[in-house]
Amino acid sequence: MNHLSVEHLLGIKYLKPSDIELIFKTADHFKEVINRPIKKVPSLRDITIANLFFENSTRTKLSFELAEKRLSADVINFSASQSSVKKGETLIDTVNNILSMKVDIVVMRHAHVGAGVFLAKHVNAKIINAGDGTHEHPTQALLDSYSIREKLGSVKGKKIVIIGDILHSRVALSNIFALQMQGAEVKVCGPTTLIPKYITSLGVTVETNLKKALEWCDVANVLRVQNERMDINYFPSTREYTQLFGINKEILDNLDKKIVIMHPGPINRGVEITSDVADSEESIILHQVENGVAVRMAVIYLLAEQIKR
Ligand code: CP
Repeated sequence: MNHLSVEHLLGIKYLKPSDIELIFKTADHFKEVINRPIKKVPSLRDITIANLFFENSTRTKLSFELAEKRLSADVINFSASQSSVKKGETLIDTVNNILSMKVDIVVMRHAHVGAGVFLAKHVNAKIINAGDGTHEHPTQALLDSYSIREKLGSVKGKKIVIIGDILHSRVALSNIFALQMQGAEVKVCGPTTLIPKYITSLGVTVETNLKKALEWCDVANVLRVQNERMDINYFPSTREYTQLFGINKEILDNLDKKIVIMHPGPINRGVEITSDVADSEESIILHQVENGVAVRMAVIYLLAEQIKR
């Protein structure tokens, strides 16, 4: 297969294993490109991409923009806080106005679950979901798996624990789909109040004892507590959360083995992870960020190929 089975990247659940393989093979090529002295290729010179961010972002927004520029696409950026959305404009009106400027691909982050799926049904452009509410964040999961593959040789057969606020995490859901699709075993660990009841129906196991979860895994993907999505208190205090679910050097030193530490960012240092762990040799957090550019170049390139065909 040398083309994607999907017309948009709306979620990992819509992909096939062969799509992930193709994205990674293409990302391998772009990773080599972005490590050259001249980091740019002319592949998307005739393509215009709009980055529409209706929710805050640092990594994803910058990573997409850099990926697009490395591919020589024309790029326009939109941030909801400085736009006419504040004056009551609908999502479709906003996007159609942008598309009338001849935009080919829309990268969108939105607070509402399914916003990308909705857009794909109503506008004539390729849509890439850069995070929709608590639902999916497919490029984050792809770059996470790509980074595991780079560090451990493959994802197949590996044991991955996702630790923290699973309930509010689009990163967790997309990772579960992506890792299982590639043959990994997935466990989630966190306070029971932050683990959705449906989670075992996805084929993952649940562990509420952090030490046991870390002893089981090859890789720990640590998530932040998403206070901005919480309308009630899910645990008594941040201090108690850190005592029970925070990753620190002492816990890791007491394991019988070395494990790989990941975090999608943004990190709350001293809450879910201490600085000495985040900055340790076991941590691949900055590799994840670096790989994000290559993986996003691959996704954009493969979708743009469909426009050219
Ligand atoms: N990992 C991630 O999505 O980070 P941002 O919210 O900064 O984009």
